[in-house]
Amino acid sequence: MKPLQVGLLGMGTVGCGTWTVLKRNEEEITRRAGRPIRITWIATRTLERAHQATRGAKGIHLTTDPEEVIGRPDVDIVVELIGGIEPAKSYVLRAIANGKHVVTANKALLARHGNEIFAAAQKTGVMVAFEAAVAGGIPIIKALREGLTANRIEWIAGIINGTSNFILSEMRATGAPFATVLAEAQARGYAEADPTFDVEGIDAAHKLTIMSAIAFGVPMQLDKVYTEGITRLTREDLRYAEELGYRIKLLGITRRASVAGSANSEGIELRVHPTLVPAKRLIANVEGAMNAVLVKGDAVGATLYYGPGAGAEPTASAVIADLVDVTRMHTADPEHRVPHLAFQPDQLSNIPFLPMGEVRTSYYLRMRVLDRPGVLADITRILADREISIDAMIQKEPPEGEDRTDIILLTHQSIERQIVDAIAKIESLPTVNGKVVRIRMEELN
Ligand code: NDP
Ligand code: HSE
Repeated sequence: MKPLQVGLLGMGTVGCGTWTVLKRNEEEITRRAGRPIRITWIATRTLERAHQATRGAKGIHLTTDPEEVIGRPDVDIVVELIGGIEPAKSYVLRAIANGKHVVTANKALLARHGNEIFAAAQKTGVMVAFEAAVAGGIPIIKALREGLTANRIEWIAGIINGTSNFILSEMRATGAPFATVLAEAQARGYAEADPTFDVEGIDAAHKLTIMSAIAFGVPMQLDKVYTEGITRLTREDLRYAEELGYRIKLLGITRRASVAGSANSEGIELRVHPTLVPAKRLIANVEGAMNAVLVKGDAVGATLYYGPGAGAEPTASAVIADLVDVTRMHTADPEHRVPHLAFQPDQLSNIPFLPMGEVRTSYYLRMRVLDRPGVLADITRILADREISIDAMIQKEPPEGEDRTDIILLTHQSIERQIVDAIAKIESLPTVNGKVVRIRMEELN
C-alpha cells in the first residue's frame, strides 16, 4: 500500500526521538498500521540537527520553512513538535485548513486554543491527535477517551510534570539544591523551553486542562485552573512531611464535587499544587521524571497509569502511536472516529468550575511560634472557631538557647476559604513569627 506521508515541524528532543523510533521500528509499525508511515519532509529552524539525525536518508527533504511542508499536497499528516503558541498555532490551523491531519505534543497550545483547533478540525473532517501532550509516553489520553468510556469519571490525580517530580525526588534523596537539579533536568531534555512552566505548575495546568475536558466532557478552560508550583517548597517541609508519613508531590487534581451548601449542584475542581500524599500510596513512590495518573471511575474503581513522562523516545512512542491511529482511521468516515475530547462535540456540558475557596481538602500547616504556655491553645481556638479539626500535630524542641520552635498541624478536610481566614488570624498573633506554611494534603484512597 502507498505510504502515508508525514511532514515533521521541529527537530528538537521529540522530533529527533520520533525520527529515530519510526526508523528503528519501521517494519513492525508498518505491520500494525497496515501501510508504511514515512517522514518525507522536515521543517526546522536550524538544519544542522536534522542533517545529523537523518544522515542523508533517501526521500527526505529538509527546509527551514514550515509553510513549504504544510502547503504540499503530498503530505498527509503534519506533526507539530515546535512547541509554544505562535507560530505553532498558525501552522496547525493552516495544516487543518489544507486538509491535513495533525499530530501534536503541544499541551500549551491545546490547553489555550484546543477548543478553536478541534472546531476547525471538525469542520474540515481531519483528526488532531495529541497523546504525547499529557504524561509523555503513558497512553493516558487513549485510556481516558476509550478504555474508560463506560465510566462516569469521579476524579483524576496525577504527577504530570516530570521535571518537577525529578527535582522533588532529588531534593529528598540527595539534598541537592533546587537550581542544580533543575539544570540536570534541562540537560536530560525533560524541561520546557522556559522551565518556569515546569516548576511553577503551568505545564501541569496545561495537561490537567486537557484531561479534565476529556474526563468530564467540558470545554477546555485553562483560566479556571488554580496553579501553584514547587519553587516555594523547602527541604524542611519535605523532611517534616516524611516524619509524618507523607511525601510531597506536585499533583494535578480534577474532581467532581458538590457545591458547599447545595447537595444537588455539582462543580469541577481543577487545581495544581504541591500535595502531601501518604508515603504508602504507590503514587507517593513515583520518582524521577516518571509520571503517574490515578483515575477513579464509578464502574472500574481506581486505576493507575505509570511511566516515563518526558524525554525523547518515551514521547516519540506517544507521537508514533498517534501516527498509527491516524493512519488506520485515515479513510474512515469522520463521523465514525473517536471524538477529539471523548464526548460528541455537541454534547459538551457546562458544569461550572469550583473556585479554589470552595475546594474541600486537608492541610499541612507549619508555623514558627514562641515556646510558652497558651500559644498552642490560641492557635487551636482559631481553627476550632472555623470548624477546622486537627488530625495530627508535632511540636519540635526549640534548639539550644532559642525560645522559638516549629509547630506542624495536619487538619481534617476543611473548606479552603476557612483555612485562608484562619491562617490570616494565626499570622496576626504576636506569638507567631512570619508566615504560616500551608500545603494541601490528599489521602487518595
Ligand atoms: P525542543 O526545543 O527540543 O525542539 C523544538 C524544535 O522546534 C527545535 O528543533 C527548534 O529549532 C524547532 N523550532 C522552534 N521554532 C521553530 C520555528 N518557528 N520553525 C521551525 N522550527 C522551529 O522541544 P521539545 O522537542 O522538547 O518539545 C517539542 C514539543 O513537545 C513541545 O510542545 C513540548 O511541550 C512537547 N513535549 C516535550 C516533551 C519532552 O520530554 N521534551 C514531552 C512531551 C511533550 P532549533 O533547533 O533551532 O531550536
Ligand atoms: N516538561 C515536561 C515535563 C515534558 O517535565 O513533564 C513532558 O510533557
